[in-house]
Amino acid sequence: MPRKFFVGGNWKCNGTRESIASLLKDFNGAVGEPDLDVQIVVAPPFVHCDFTKEKLPKGWELSVQNCWIGKGGAFTGEVSAEMIKDAGIPWVILGHSERRHLPQLKESDETVAVKVAYALANGLKVMACIGELLEEREAGQTQAVNERQLKAIAAKLKEEDWKNVVIAYEPVWAIGTGKVATPEQAQEVHEHVRAWVASNVSPSVAAEVRILYGGSVTAKNCVELAGKPDVDGFLVGGASLKPEFLDIIAAHK
Ligand code: G3H
Repeated sequence: MPRKFFVGGNWKCNGTRESIASLLKDFNGAVGEPDLDVQIVVAPPFVHCDFTKEKLPKGWELSVQNCWIGKGGAFTGEVSAEMIKDAGIPWVILGHSERRHLPQLKESDETVAVKVAYALANGLKVMACIGELLEEREAGQTQAVNERQLKAIAAKLKEEDWKNVVIAYEPVWAIGTGKVATPEQAQEVHEHVRAWVASNVSPSVAAEVRILYGGSVTAKNCVELAGKPDVDGFLVGGASLKPEFLDIIAAHK
C-alpha cells in the first residue's frame, strides 16, 4: 500500500486566539472537501487546542507539541498523555530538536524514548523527531546521530507500535534558518533511516512508516522535496502559520 502523504504544522510557542481565528478562517475559506490523499495534523500550543479544534477544517487532526514522560500526578506545569487522549487529541510531537537542544530543556535520547513509548501505550499517535546539529553534519556524523536517536526509541517499542508513529527528520541547522536541506540531502537521510528501520525493526514497518522532512519548508521548495521517493511529507514550522501551508499540503499532487 502506498504511504499516505502527511503534513504536520507545528505552531510552536506562537499565536493568540485572534491570530489563530484569522488563520483558520483563511484555511477554511480556501479548502473544499477533504483531500483523501493527504493527512493533515496541526499542533497548537496546549492552551489553544480546544479553540483550534472547534475551527479546524474538515478532516484535519490535532496534535500537541509535548507531553509528560509518564503517568500524571505531582508534576507542576506538565500535561500527561492520558489527559491529552481524554481531551480528544490524537497526536503528540516528541523529540523535537528545540526540546532536545534548548539549554533550558535538554531532553536526552532516553527521555524522548520513554515519552514516545508511554504516549503510544496510552493511545496517542506520535510524530517522533530526529536530526543532527550542523557541527555533527560537518563532522560526518549525520547518519550516526540519526541512528542513535532512532535506536533509543526503537529499543522501547514493539513492532505493532510503529503503526502509530511517524518519523520526522529535521536537521537542526535547517530549522527556522531559511537554509533548507536540498532534496538530495533529505533523500539520503530518509533512505538511510528507512534502511535502518528495515534492518532493526522489520522490512514491513520500513515499507509503511512515513518519514517526514522538516526544516525551512516553504511553498517554494516543497514540491521538489516531495518528489523524492522516501520523503513522505513534512513537519512545517513557520510556514504552517501562513496561508502558504495550503501550498505545502498540495505538494504531493
Ligand atoms: O517542527 C517544525 C520544524 O522545527 C521546522 O520549523 O519550518 O520553521 O524551519 P521551520
